[in-house]
Amino acid sequence: MTYAAVLAGGVGSRMGAELPKQFLEVGGKPILVRSVEQFACRADMACVLVLTPEEWVSYTWDLLAKSGVNEGPVPVRVISGGETRNDTLRNAISWLEEHYELTEDDVFVTHDAVRPFLTQQMIDDNIEAVRQHGACGTTIPSTDTVVISEDGTLISDIPDRSRLYQMQTPQSFRPLKLKEFMDSLTPEEEAALTDGCKIYLLKGEPVAMVRGDVTNLKVTYPSDLAFAESFLNGEED
Ligand code: CTP
Repeated sequence: MTYAAVLAGGVGSRMGAELPKQFLEVGGKPILVRSVEQFACRADMACVLVLTPEEWVSYTWDLLAKSGVNEGPVPVRVISGGETRNDTLRNAISWLEEHYELTEDDVFVTHDAVRPFLTQQMIDDNIEAVRQHGACGTTIPSTDTVVISEDGTLISDIPDRSRLYQMQTPQSFRPLKLKEFMDSLTPEEEAALTDGCKIYLLKGEPVAMVRGDVTNLKVTYPSDLAFAESFLNGEED
């Protein structure tokens, strides 16, 4: 079976809005609703789990109910996220374990709620990549030259751009395997590892790349909201 977790447990401090950024609207529709509906419309999803800050759970449920996204054939559930993104991920797997008979063959597609323009193709490709390789992350080739600085003042290295990619989401896994790996992390590893793909790499496991797109943008700052609006209006080049 395939399960989806839409990670919306953050508070959006860099956005500085009154609401966590996942609840802000682009093109007249909340960002979170846009993300959730991309999963809820798929017949191959056993469940779409939405994780938000505890104090926003009932607000989230009302928002999703108002949008009608929970009226399709796929169960949509809302639960509390955790303090960090990893904690949110962990809550998702624990909840799925409690409510479903998870098996080694299951696929777990995780997505940041604040990337509302993911496509069905990306979800298809994530599921296929997990079946073939066990885990994957959605990426795009880096168009900017990236530099490394050890001290924040001087450039220590400029890696070859042809080998650099930017990570997006979805990122997808075998849920039981991800849980096993997360449970085995030391507190130091836990603090340093900000996403599931990195945990797999630490464990020496393969992680495939799935083709993303620049339009699969992440809303972080107010300027991203403006860009998202213009994308929807077809105004960008
Ligand atoms: N996220 C989550 N649980 C957390 C923290 C983050 O599910 N405890 C989610 C966010 O809701 C978002 C995604 O992870 O969908 C990417 O995180 P980020 O853009 O950093 O979101 P915020 O933590 O909300 O933003 P900020 O760092 O500006 O506060």
